[in-house]
Amino acid sequence: MEYNPPVKKVLISGEQIDKRVKELADKISEDYKGRTPILVGILRGSVLFFSNLVKNLSIDCNLDFMCLASYSGTESSGKVRFILDMREDVKGRDVIIVEDIVDTGITGQYLLDLLKTRNPASVEICSLLDKPSNRQLEIKPKYVGFEIENEFVIGYGLDYNELYRNLPYIGVFDETKK
Ligand code: IMP
Repeated sequence: MEYNPPVKKVLISGEQIDKRVKELADKISEDYKGRTPILVGILRGSVLFFSNLVKNLSIDCNLDFMCLASYSGTESSGKVRFILDMREDVKGRDVIIVEDIVDTGITGQYLLDLLKTRNPASVEICSLLDKPSNRQLEIKPKYVGFEIENEFVIGYGLDYNELYRNLPYIGVFDETKK
């Protein structure tokens, strides 16, 4: 069936993502050997990355989710809307926040601040994408799949107005199709 999503070009193919996610999962498995981290997927953007990442881990782990929102169209609102909290108690635990992309850094900083009030043993961020040139807050995710330019991307969980999360690759959004 023909499907023509508004993609100007494929930036990262599904194969490239699979390969890189395996590398990230190996690194996390090594770094957390003998511990049982809680991986917290940030809904909804991280959902494809999250499932790919966790199935490649070779350590015990707990899985949990939080739901946040901050974007409308291709612009960050600059404010985080908290929609759904996680269920696990993070006190004394190692937490890995799993995000689709760190852009302005506002969401990441919000999550770090929030989780630190709950006294975890450690908190790190693992993000499929990083757009450091658009940063407003100084945060550096410990695990990054790919660093990208300041372009609006869709696919592999990332949306434009809640569409195109289903694409099996990361593509540059075609703004003329807005
Ligand atoms: P922040 O600006 O670092 O707070 O990023 C917050 C959220 O904005 C991310 O988790 C994404 O859901 C969304 N976002 C940022 N850049 C893009 C993009 O290029 N495409 C789709 N969503 C994005």
